Amino acid sequence: MTCFDRDTDSARLWAHFAKGRNVLMLAPRRIGKTVLLNRLRDESEAKGYRAIVLDVQGFREEKAFFQQMCAVIQEEIGFGASVLATFTERLRQTLKGSDAAGGDWRQLLLHTDWREFARHLLSHLNNDKEGKPWLVLLDEIPIFALALLETHGMQRVHDFLYTLRQFRQAYPNVRWLFTGSIGMDTVARRNSLEGALNDFEPYPLKPFDADTATRFLNHIAIANGRHMDPAAAQHIIARLGWLSPYYLEKIAEEASQQAASGQIIEAADADNAVEAMLGLDKRTYWSTWREHLDRNFPDPEQTHLFSLLATIARSPQGYASHDTLLGELNRGESVGVGQLRAYLDTLEADGYLVACDHADNCHRFRMGLLRDWWLRYVVA
Ligand SMILES: Nc1ncnc2c1ncn2[C@@H]1O[C@H](COP(=O)(O)OP(=O)(O)OP(=O)(O)O)[C@@H](O)[C@H]1O
Ligand SMILES: [Mg+2]
Repeated sequence: MTCFDRDTDSARLWAHFAKGRNVLMLAPRRIGKTVLLNRLRDESEAKGYRAIVLDVQGFREEKAFFQQMCAVIQEEIGFGASVLATFTERLRQTLKGSDAAGGDWRQLLLHTDWREFARHLLSHLNNDKEGKPWLVLLDEIPIFALALLETHGMQRVHDFLYTLRQFRQAYPNVRWLFTGSIGMDTVARRNSLEGALNDFEPYPLKPFDADTATRFLNHIAIANGRHMDPAAAQHIIARLGWLSPYYLEKIAEEASQQAASGQIIEAADADNAVEAMLGLDKRTYWSTWREHLDRNFPDPEQTHLFSLLATIARSPQGYASHDTLLGELNRGESVGVGQLRAYLDTLEADGYLVACDHADNCHRFRMGLLRDWWLRYVVA
C-alpha cells in the first residue's frame, strides 16, 4: 500500500525521534496507522535508523512478542542475521553453565526469563556498532495487551508495560513508536496503567484535511480510470464529515463504478456512492465501531455508551445536549454529571463523537455517515 501524503506527519515523527523521544500514536481504527508505520520503515535508512515494524496482534505471551521481534530483525534488516548472531553469542556467554546456554536465539528465548532475554537484546541494539539508533514501530500493541490480560490477568500486563518502560529509560538508542487503535487507552485508563506510558510523546494521527481529501479522492478515481469533479469531491467530504483515508478510498472506488470508464465522476455519482456505503453488503466497513464497544467495555458502562450514541443518532437535528443525554441515562439508574463527562470523553477519544461548534454542552457524531449507519443497523 503506497502512502498518500502524510508528509507532515512523517516529518513531525522523525523530528520527535531525532530528539530522542518515543511516541504513542493513538488513533481510531482505519485512519492509516499501519500505512504510516510502513512508510516510516521505508524512510528509515535514509534518515539514519534501523527500523522494524512489529505487528503483535495474535500473540498471547511476552516470549511470542520477542520471538517476533528477533524474527523480523533477522529476516528484514540487511544484516539482521549477523546482529542476532553476535547477540546470541553474547547471551550464551552470560548464561554459561546454565541449561539455557546452548542452541540458537529461539532456544535461548525458550529457556530464559523473557525479561532477561529482552534486556540483553535491547542492550545489544542500544550499542549498535555503527551508532545508528534503532526504531521499533510497534503496531497493535493494545490488542497484544488485551490478549495478555485475557489469558494471564492484569498483573502480567502491568509487568510487561512497566518492564518495557524501564528498557526505554535504560536503552535510549532504541526508540519506540507504539500505535494503538483506541483500546490501549481504554485499558490504560481503566486499570491505571497510565504511568507505564507517561514517558511517551503523544501523537494524535488526524484524518485528512479537505484539500488532501480532495486530492486523494481524485487520485483513487484516476487509479480506477476516472476523474473526479471537484463538486463531487465536496459532496463526499461534506457527507463523511471526518476524512479517514479508508472511507474516502471506499467511496471513491464505489463512485468510480457508478461513472462509466473514462468519464468524470459527477456529484450525482458521488451521492449514489455515499448511499451505497450504507448498504447491507457494506455493513462490515463500519462494524468495527460497534465491536469496539461490545468488546472493550463492561456493563453498565457499555449499555450507557450505547444509549448515549442511540440518543444522539435519533435526534432529528443530529446532536443532543448534555441535559438530554443525562435525562436519557437517568431513566434507568442514577448517573451523575461527572460520569456523563467521562463517557463523553471516552466517546470523543475513541472517535465517535465531537463537541458541537455552535453551542456549549452538546455533542454530535464525528462522522455523519457513521450516524446514518448507527441509525440503520444499531438503533433500529
Ligand atoms: N496515507 C494513505 N494513503 C493511501 N491509503 C491509505 C492511507 N492511509 C490509509 N489508507 C487506506 O486505509 C486503509 C486502512 O489503513 P490502515 O490499515 O493503515 O489503518 P489503521 O489505522 O492501521 O487501522 P486499524 O486500526 O484497523 O489497524 C488502508 O488499507 C488503505 O487502503
Ligand atoms: Mg493497523
